[in-house]
Amino acid sequence: MTGRLAAKSAIVVGAGSVGPGWGNGKATAVLFAREGARVLCVDLNEAAARETAELIASEGGEAAVYRADASRAEDVQGMVSACLDRFGRIDVLDNNVGIAEVGGVVDLAEEVWDRVLAVNLKSCFLTMKHVIPVMERQGGGAIINISSIASIRYTGIPYASYSASKAAMNHLTRTTAAQYAPKNIRVNAILPGLMKTPMVERSAGLAQSYAGGDVEAMWRARAAQVPMGHMGDAWDVARAALFLASDEARYITGVELPVDGGITLKFA
Ligand SMILES: NC(=O)c1ccc[n+]([C@@H]2O[C@H](COP(=O)([O-])OP(=O)(O)OC[C@H]3O[C@@H](n4cnc5c(N)ncnc54)[C@H](O)[C@@H]3O)[C@@H](O)[C@H]2O)c1
Repeated sequence: MTGRLAAKSAIVVGAGSVGPGWGNGKATAVLFAREGARVLCVDLNEAAARETAELIASEGGEAAVYRADASRAEDVQGMVSACLDRFGRIDVLDNNVGIAEVGGVVDLAEEVWDRVLAVNLKSCFLTMKHVIPVMERQGGGAIINISSIASIRYTGIPYASYSASKAAMNHLTRTTAAQYAPKNIRVNAILPGLMKTPMVERSAGLAQSYAGGDVEAMWRARAAQVPMGHMGDAWDVARAALFLASDEARYITGVELPVDGGITLKFA
């Protein structure tokens, strides 16, 4: 522990993991706590958030749990109140919630489009809407929005709703960063690349698109796409989030940081 987030309180939205192992939000919540933050673990799946909080407590850190659907305003307001009640302040907001549905514009059902936009984009709007006034009163804060390389590239798999939601998240990050820079509130985005996480393993249709449903073959195919020759993992995203959350990044706002082993540098 080096205390890079000492005396800070953080909310990680989507702090659980959809399956066994390490998702980006779970690793981020644990790493934030290892660096001294008190962490509110927020998730629609309360048991998943609790697992993360218990991991933090087992390492001697401080964490609390809040169940919320981040796409619903009343849940997000409750989340903010819970963090203030428990920790008294909010210094860091990590917006990690995200769902992916395979489908191009022709195939995608309208209700799937609406759901993906609500979970991936509206959640980011709502959490910033209700957290920023708190940060403003405190004199500053750091927000990290977890986007994706799919926001700036066609990845070879049609993800119309996912890509559009993440592209909109990038620009919401930039405009909010510009607006709140004078208030010392930094807003940055991380664009994870091909990560090996439970979310990818379980993503409906992804293994099918890659390798006829063979998950091991999908891992090999994804690794081969990356210039570094391997996928990243949840800790790579967590370490980038830690940097952006910490005062080491105090002069950085409005950036999109790819964490992708160089894949967005490729021509094909
Ligand atoms: N894994 C990758 O390869 C990859 C690549 C690019 C971007 N990302 C992004 O990383 C983020 C998450 O990655 P992860 O590995 O932690 O995924 P994950 O699915 O394991 O964890 C996300 C958590 O969010 C929760 N959640 C879903 N909908 C919610 C809602 N409406 N309200 C509250 N909680 C909700 C889920 O219950 C889950 O615990 C997403 O934003 C995703 O788009 C992942």
